[in-house]
Amino acid sequence: MLARASTAALAQAVRRPLLAHAAATLATAAGDVQPIKNVTVFGSGLMGAGIVQVSAQAGCQVTMVDVTPEALAKGEKIILSSLKRTAKKKYAEDAAGAQSFVDQIMANIHQSTEGAQAATKADLVVEAIVENLTVKQKLFAALDEAAPKHTIFASNTSSLKIADIAEATQRRDRFAGLHFFNPVPQMKLVEVIRTRDTSDVVFNSLLQFCRDLKKAPVSCKDTPGFIVNRLLVPYLMEAVRIVERGEASIADVDTAMKLGAGYPMGPFELADFVGLDTVKFIIDGWYTNGDGLKGKELVAPSKLLNDLVTAGKLGRKSGEGFYNYAQK
Ligand code: CAA
Repeated sequence: MLARASTAALAQAVRRPLLAHAAATLATAAGDVQPIKNVTVFGSGLMGAGIVQVSAQAGCQVTMVDVTPEALAKGEKIILSSLKRTAKKKYAEDAAGAQSFVDQIMANIHQSTEGAQAATKADLVVEAIVENLTVKQKLFAALDEAAPKHTIFASNTSSLKIADIAEATQRRDRFAGLHFFNPVPQMKLVEVIRTRDTSDVVFNSLLQFCRDLKKAPVSCKDTPGFIVNRLLVPYLMEAVRIVERGEASIADVDTAMKLGAGYPMGPFELADFVGLDTVKFIIDGWYTNGDGLKGKELVAPSKLLNDLVTAGKLGRKSGEGFYNYAQK
C-alpha cells in the first residue's frame, strides 16, 4: 500500500509537466533514500567540473580529483567562469553580493590529486574521466578498497555499459550511471541508469540527489547511449551523411534544424560542442560492439568525421571542427 508521503508525492508528480520526471518522483516515494552530503568527483574536465559545481551549489561538500594540479586548475577556471556568469545575472547591481555568492560555493569545493584516497569520506563518488573501460575499471577497483562501505559509485559515461564498469568492484548493488549533459549548470536533465544489480535504495538516493541539484532525473536501463545519446548520436551522424552525399551544406543543415525543428543548435554546431572525438568514439564502439547497434548503418564510420578527428579538428575545444572558431 502507498504511504501518505507517497500519495502526496503522487499528487505533486501529476501536476508536473514532465511525465518522465513524474515517474522518477514516484520511484523515490516508494523507497528509502540515503543522504548524500559528501561528494567526490573524479575528472576536472568540462563534465567533471560541471558536476562539482552543481553539487557545491546544492550545499554538498565536494572534492574534485584529477591527476595533476594543472588539470585541477583548469577545472577550477571552468567553475569560476560559470559561477561568475550566473552571479552577474543574479546580482546585476550588487558586486559584493555576486562575489559572496561565488565565494560561498567555492568554499564547498576541495581539490585533490590523491586518487582513490580522496574518497574516504564520500557518500557518493561520481566518475567523469576518460572514456576507457580499463582505466575506469582500474579507478573503481581502487575506490572499492578505499571508500567506506556505504559509498555509492556512479559513472558519467556516455557510451560504456555501466555493468561492465561495475564488474571491477564488489559493490555492484551500490553502482549506477549518473549521466549529466553539457553545459552541466544549464542542462536540467540527468539520466539515472540502474543495472540489474543496482539496489532500490541506491537508485532512489540518486534520483533524490538529482532533485537536490535542481535537476530533472529520468531513468533508463543500461543500454547503449541510454535515452539521449541513443537518439542524438544517430541524428548527428545522419546530418554528417547528408553533407557527405552532397545533398546540403553544413550551414544549411544547421539553419534547417534550428529554424525548422526549433533546436537550440544545429547538428554540426552540437557535434563541435560535444567534441568530434567523443562522437567518433561513441559510434565506433557501438558499430563494433553495441547491443542491437553492432554493424548498423545508423552508426557506421564516416570518412568526413574520421578525417577531421585525424587532423586534430575536434570541435570547439581544439578551435576547429566542422566550423572554425578562431574566425568566429
Ligand atoms: N554555466 C552557467 N550558465 C550557462 C552556461 C554555463 N557553462 N552555459 C550557458 N549558460 C546559460 C547562460 O548564462 C544563459 O542563461 P540565461 O538564459 O539565464 O541568460 C543560457 O545558458 C543561454 O546561454 P547563451 O545565451 O550564452 O547561449 P545560447 O542561448 O546559445 O545557449 C546553450 C547555449 C545552453 C549551450 C544552448 O545552445 C543549448 O542548449 N545547446 C544544446 C546543448 C545540448 O544539446 N547539450 C547536450 C549535449 S549531449 C551531452 O552532453 C551528452 C553526451 O554524453 C555527449
